[in-house]
Amino acid sequence: MSKKSYSLFDKHSQALIYGNQTKAIQRMLDFDYICKREKPSVSAIINPTGGGPQQFFFGEKEILIPMYKTIGKALKFHKEIDIMINFASLRSAYESSLEAIKAKPIKTVVIIAEGILERKTRLLIANAKKNNTWIIGPATVGGICAGQFRIANTGGTLENIINSKLHRGGSFGLVTKSGGLSNEMYNVIAQNSDGIYEGVAIGGDAYPGSTLADHCLRFEKNPQIKAIVVLGEIGGLDEYEISEALIKKNITKPLVAWTAGTCAKEFTGEVQFGHAGAKTGSLKESADKKNKVLKKAGAIVPKSFNDIGKQINKVYKNLVSQKIIKPKKDLQPRAIPADFEDFKKHKKVRKPTQIISSISCDTGEEATYLGIPISKIVKDQNKGLGYVIGLLWFKKELPQFAAAYIEMILKTVADHGPCVSGALNTIVSARAGKDLVSSLVSGLLTIGPRFGGAIDGAAYYFFDAFNKDLNPRDFVAQMKQKGVNIPGIGHKVKSIKNPDKRVENLKNFAKKNFKNTDLLNYALEVEKITTSKKENLILNVDGVIAVTFIDMMKSLPEIFSQREIEKVIEIGSLNGLFVLGRSVGFIGHYFDQKRYKQGLYRFDTDDVLYLTKGKTN
Ligand code: ACO
Ligand code: LMR
Repeated sequence: MSKKSYSLFDKHSQALIYGNQTKAIQRMLDFDYICKREKPSVSAIINPTGGGPQQFFFGEKEILIPMYKTIGKALKFHKEIDIMINFASLRSAYESSLEAIKAKPIKTVVIIAEGILERKTRLLIANAKKNNTWIIGPATVGGICAGQFRIANTGGTLENIINSKLHRGGSFGLVTKSGGLSNEMYNVIAQNSDGIYEGVAIGGDAYPGSTLADHCLRFEKNPQIKAIVVLGEIGGLDEYEISEALIKKNITKPLVAWTAGTCAKEFTGEVQFGHAGAKTGSLKESADKKNKVLKKAGAIVPKSFNDIGKQINKVYKNLVSQKIIKPKKDLQPRAIPADFEDFKKHKKVRKPTQIISSISCDTGEEATYLGIPISKIVKDQNKGLGYVIGLLWFKKELPQFAAAYIEMILKTVADHGPCVSGALNTIVSARAGKDLVSSLVSGLLTIGPRFGGAIDGAAYYFFDAFNKDLNPRDFVAQMKQKGVNIPGIGHKVKSIKNPDKRVENLKNFAKKNFKNTDLLNYALEVEKITTSKKENLILNVDGVIAVTFIDMMKSLPEIFSQREIEKVIEIGSLNGLFVLGRSVGFIGHYFDQKRYKQGLYRFDTDDVLYLTKGKTN
């Protein structure tokens, strides 16, 4: 007899899990790890709807377990698989189990689903016999080979596993119908002996894929198993088969047996307990009768379920005294690192955070801007984009006039035609076949100290000069001395003769709405000096945004302190107004080029001064 015929799973078994049962798989791997198994016991997962490899822990290490759509595919790549644990739902459990039963390398199929039609289970059993495959279930939690292989959730929590000595092999074989009672029995056996070598719960259906007797006969043949414990239940005639095997001496190892459900006699009619098979109609299937028959056949039958531990202990001591069992040394299980999420839930860990967010939060029921739920903001007609920018950029709830001012800036700078540096770059990129984001970014990258990005520079220099009480003339002179063009002054096409309407509008808004326009007035004094030199050296759109924004903040001392104003300038937040506003225009230019299917743009050679040697045409 080959080893495999009496051992369904051991430390070399490799499982195929049908159904992406991540929790059960992780529990199997945790068991493997504490038992010091060399290789994780799960080779592959079947998910008929597909998916990539799944991440699990093996100890503290993360591993990937491949996922396949079909059993056939998984077996093609994993020749080591010898057991399938089938978590398929009732609807598909029959077909998938049949396929696994017929698949050559699979020697054991565990069927978790409950309620498979008895007719279909019988077909599965017939096929299993034909193919020399074992079935555990249906309606089972599975089984365990202590310290070697665990089926899914068998044995419960890791703590329970260790308390029940399931992390290392003992000398008893256990077979039960009920999965719940099997967990209880692992514990009872561990308290009264050196624990189990192997345990199987065959499931509560009337037609189990393998019977109590099948497993007892297997245990008889396994030299590692020195005694057998059977926990049957009311209904079915399985226990009679065991009795017969005892009488015929096909089972010779001490066998402690109990049939649960002795209380059924207290009921007058037919009784069905939790399991489909746990019902009694005839006296023959009653627990009392079966206990009697087992006892007569030579089984050790306790007086009640509560007495079972005592009987197991007696058997154990006896086998030890006969030196049939050599008491096993207790083995220290390997510790499993705690799961971070569990520890976090119980406030047992802390770690430094990686980023700070003081403007928005997404941990509650709804994301908030500065603590205000988004729905509250969008439902309020008076709260527009300017208000949102106040919250997210400046961390302030701005009054209506200030929010309106921000929106006015955005509208003002949204576009200035296709010829300006940024728009041109967006257009060229769009015509080179680039996508929206690339074309937009190409335009945005042009924004800088000369084009659109002079707002922060202007804010810095004007605010600094004003705070130092510097005479405008001295300011212009000092800047010239430094060789720095005053940010916010000068324009390529606008001048005193061709004033920039946008600048006029913003100036007027500030004068009308702000309590304070000191910095604007100062900048206009500077403009008088620069335009006296050259008529295009006007206060430009960047410049007017810079100085009026500071005036707006200074008009709201209850909202912006002097330090906060300095901070706004220091971190360079004002260029953001141009970046955001002009994005609207750049996106428009991108759409415009695509709308008219504009081809690749090439610069005209007439517009290039070639300084190369030799003829050009
Ligand atoms: N401050 C002082 N002097 C200036 C300034 C300025 N901001 N800008 C130009 N000048 C002077 C130059 O020093 C030069 O003087 P020079 O003739 O004595 O040598 C003369 O004006 C002409 O200089 P150019 O650079 O040829 O002037 P141009 O009209 O081409 O420049 C520009 C326009 C780039 C906007 C320029 O005025 C400048 O750099 N300004 C500062 C940056 C700025 O505010 N950019 C934002 C513009 S608005 C927008 O993009 C939305
Ligand atoms: C703009 O807003 O893009 C313009 O002020 C720049 C320009 O050159 O016209």
